[in-house]
Amino acid sequence: MKITVVGAGGNVGATVALSIAQRDYAKEVVMVDIERKEGDKVFYPSKGRALDQWESSPVHGFDTRLRGAVDYAETAGSDVCVITAGVPRRPGMSRDDLLGINAGIVKSVTEELVKHSPNTILVIVSNPLDVMSYVAYAASGFDSSRVMGMAGILDTARYRAFLADELDISPKDIQALLMGGHGDTMVPLPRYTTVSGIPVTQLIDEQKLDAIVERTKKGGGEIVGLMGTSAWYAPGAAAAQMVEAILLDQNRIFPCAARLSGQYGIDDLFLGVPVKLGKGGIKEIIEVDLNEKEMDLLKDSAKAVRQTMDEFHELMNKQS
Ligand code: APR
Repeated sequence: MKITVVGAGGNVGATVALSIAQRDYAKEVVMVDIERKEGDKVFYPSKGRALDQWESSPVHGFDTRLRGAVDYAETAGSDVCVITAGVPRRPGMSRDDLLGINAGIVKSVTEELVKHSPNTILVIVSNPLDVMSYVAYAASGFDSSRVMGMAGILDTARYRAFLADELDISPKDIQALLMGGHGDTMVPLPRYTTVSGIPVTQLIDEQKLDAIVERTKKGGGEIVGLMGTSAWYAPGAAAAQMVEAILLDQNRIFPCAARLSGQYGIDDLFLGVPVKLGKGGIKEIIEVDLNEKEMDLLKDSAKAVRQTMDEFHELMNKQS
């Protein structure tokens, strides 16, 4: 099995690559990034990261080869490609500037990947996630079962970690589902949260649960506030879990950003929903029962994503 991670000279991409290697089921992980010029020096961040990680293999005990690359020819025949490439928002850069730049990056990266791996499956991590997933979907020309975005596993992991702290229990025993967009319009579903089968609402009072949901929504910002830059361990581990489910045909049920075509009454939009992940990508989009309040929240979330999509289309029209 061959996996490519693009943007792997950066924090999230490098973490995805190492998380995959440490599970030791794949033959190789190709870590692509651009070269960085500083004066008369040229640096190759993903080659450096790959070498450093490969040198940890005797200690960690894995065989998966990690290889840095700049040339997409080296990614040929990848079974899954993860895209974490992008630029962070810099002072003076508007939201639209960022959207335009990252869309351009994701589009060109997707085209290169697809050229060399026409049968691959694409997992998108670059933000704004729901829109970048659409960009990759459109640029690849793939069936939507082969293009998906990573956000739900990360959001759910944060929620489970906070609950585990509050209840002083193992995060492994917490099963949860969050839907919708990544961020403020995330749709929490306490009804679908259990601790080893016990509804979480029997173990925690409503106020505390609400506070945990709010903290989860702002989970990304909490890390930025502490570190001055965005998270990578949990996002990297979450993307690696999607890769594993696909390549090992695990048929796992995860919340992922998937292109909806009528499910939940929403059409032609990438949004976080529970899916069955295995060989070939998304095998099924699961439509869970939502009450009126939950459905309203999901529609609000869809509206917010649709608005960013509209801004993106406007931007593209202006540029063309
Ligand atoms: N081709 C390949 N790699 C690129 C390109 C490109 N055209 N443009 C930028 N990159 C690389 C950068 O060189 C950098 O190494 O993408 C990497 C991004 O890494 P970081 O800046 O460290 O960002 P990171 O924290 O890893 O986040 C990456 O994931 O969670 C999201 O919001 C996050 O969109 C961001 C992405």
